[in-house]
Amino acid sequence: MDQAAKKQAVAAAAIEEIRGQFVSGAIIGVGTGSTANAFIDLLAQHKQHFDAAVASSKATADRLGGHGIRVLDLNDAGTLAVYVDGADEADPDLNLIKGGGGALTREKIVAAASERFVCIVDDSKCVGTLGAFPLPLEVLPMARELVMGALRDLGGAPQVRSGFTTDNGNLIIDTARLDLRDPPAAERQLNDLVGVVCNGLFALRPADALLVAGSSGVAHYVKNDQ
Ligand code: A5P
Repeated sequence: MDQAAKKQAVAAAAIEEIRGQFVSGAIIGVGTGSTANAFIDLLAQHKQHFDAAVASSKATADRLGGHGIRVLDLNDAGTLAVYVDGADEADPDLNLIKGGGGALTREKIVAAASERFVCIVDDSKCVGTLGAFPLPLEVLPMARELVMGALRDLGGAPQVRSGFTTDNGNLIIDTARLDLRDPPAAERQLNDLVGVVCNGLFALRPADALLVAGSSGVAHYVKNDQ
């Protein structure tokens, strides 16, 4: 099974996972990226069974709207029962690196507003320890050099993502070689850097369920404390 087929399989598994949300009045949080896109395309087949969606990026809002799914501003939606999104890396504790598509800030906001975060990945994203994937950080443009220096002081190798502006008008700095062995501590430390809007570690609010597509099917993992 190739990676595209795995993304399709895990998207289909996510539809089953959230089937309980296909009720009148339900509002579903929807992530960003190629795996989330596969999910959106399947979600469209159920659009008459839920009320609306909240999107974690302009691209996702456009895709949802293209399917005729009503897209709500998060401020008008309140707490969401479920958020479905992909990731760039996932560890055994369901901590994640996200932001490969540059939408990490809105993704973290929608995840924070959701009671349950269902993360969907193919097995290439599963790692023992986070950090092989350079960590994306969203940074205010005027703080670029200040933040690059602070990231180097932490042992990182930061690189501005060329020609990319986030939906919020900011830069992405992809940073390799950071020590992410304690993901919640690293997330807090990076949150404290002045000029950083958001970092791509999802450890303070990790996934609640992780669906992983491999060659022999889709495996389901839940947080240990659930
Ligand atoms: C978007 O900013 C990311 O967080 C995506 O969720 C992540 O990059 C996974 O994308 P793919 O599903 O395209 O691999």
